Amino acid sequence: MSVLSGKNILLGVTAGIAAYKSAFLVRLLIKKGAYVKVIMTPSSKEFVTPLTLSTLSKNEVYSTFTNEEDDNAQWNNHVELALWADLFLIAPATANTMSKMANGICDNLLMAVYLSAKCPVYFAPAMDLDMYKHPTTLQSFEKLENFGNIQIPAEEGELASGLIGQGRMAEPEVIISFVENDLLDKLPLKGKKILITAGPTFEAIDPVRFIGNHSSGKMGYALAEVAANMGAQITLISGPVSVSISHSFIKIINVTSASEMYEETHNYFKECDIAILSAAVADFTPIEKAAQKIKKKEDTLTIELKKTKDILASLGKIKEEKYLVGFALETENELENAKTKLKKKNLDLIVLNSLNDKGAGFKTDTNKVTLISKGNKVLPFQVKSKKEVATDILHYIIKQIYV
Ligand code: CTP
Repeated sequence: MSVLSGKNILLGVTAGIAAYKSAFLVRLLIKKGAYVKVIMTPSSKEFVTPLTLSTLSKNEVYSTFTNEEDDNAQWNNHVELALWADLFLIAPATANTMSKMANGICDNLLMAVYLSAKCPVYFAPAMDLDMYKHPTTLQSFEKLENFGNIQIPAEEGELASGLIGQGRMAEPEVIISFVENDLLDKLPLKGKKILITAGPTFEAIDPVRFIGNHSSGKMGYALAEVAANMGAQITLISGPVSVSISHSFIKIINVTSASEMYEETHNYFKECDIAILSAAVADFTPIEKAAQKIKKKEDTLTIELKKTKDILASLGKIKEEKYLVGFALETENELENAKTKLKKKNLDLIVLNSLNDKGAGFKTDTNKVTLISKGNKVLPFQVKSKKEVATDILHYIIKQIYV
């Protein structure tokens, strides 16, 4: 999955011959799973039609503040467009548009959106070689980069004029991988290895029956997905769940029982930087698993159970510099119990869910958590979707470790 997947991308098209390549850019962005809206300067429509770009982007193309041909014209809100965007890519960026960007000249919709944008702005210059080398163009590059915009350098080659030199807009594939690599480089968990446990464990009674619990795995899977999108490499040790996930940064190890989860978690713990144990591991398992299906001969049946090994506590003993996070699901004396677990299991952070809170716990798509870190610092959150909760937890961890 690309880092562009699910991103809202504004593509700004300005009036250079390379504007014909913007059709390929839109197609590639859509293929990467991005949502694309196109803003054109009025003159760029001489080079490529709005119809082409609107068909490929599956969205209306914007180029004026109002639709001039429509008596019921509506204001194209530049602020709304700018805030919608996760990133703004201006390709091709002509000398004229770059000069306006460098000087804050707001004489068309694209410029108004640019000046309103809070997201990262990438620009891919395109022009003839002498224009490219002109001191005012070089000054625009410098100013734009000083403002925090990111330049996608033009390539050397044959230009539309027939001259050979630098000024040809980077090819659409090059632009896309430039943006992908730049975004990946800036991800807050880039290069970090995170181990996550999720879901329930099933403890076999006989070949067809088991002791399990209601954990859906949704919280652990949300953590894995959000952390992977922040650039981390994830090993997800999962008990039996019906949720699924596919992400190039996530490796899933499927297990069934608490003892299998113990083994696999220890196998991968050595190489991780952060471990988050969200699985609802069975605390007890049958001492013996019947070889054959148990028949209902008697009126009662007693199954003797023994304690499982506490995975989290065992990691707390060997954690050294690793950041270790546990979960606590409580029904009474929530804060006190969670604080005791934090200390007893030698954790850096514990995520408390209370079954008394509406919208928290197993199977739901929402959760309400309180984070308690070393030194008993307590941070409660509202009910949120499990993805938002995962984001809160990961932001908290990033602040604790890396900021
Ligand atoms: N945990 C674990 N291995 C176990 C049991 C629990 O790794 N055998 C982890 C869970 O993944 C969770 C944390 O321990 O991160 C808390 O689990 P919980 O069941 O709430 O606490 P327990 O320590 O088992 O205590 P109790 O059941 O008595 O509340």
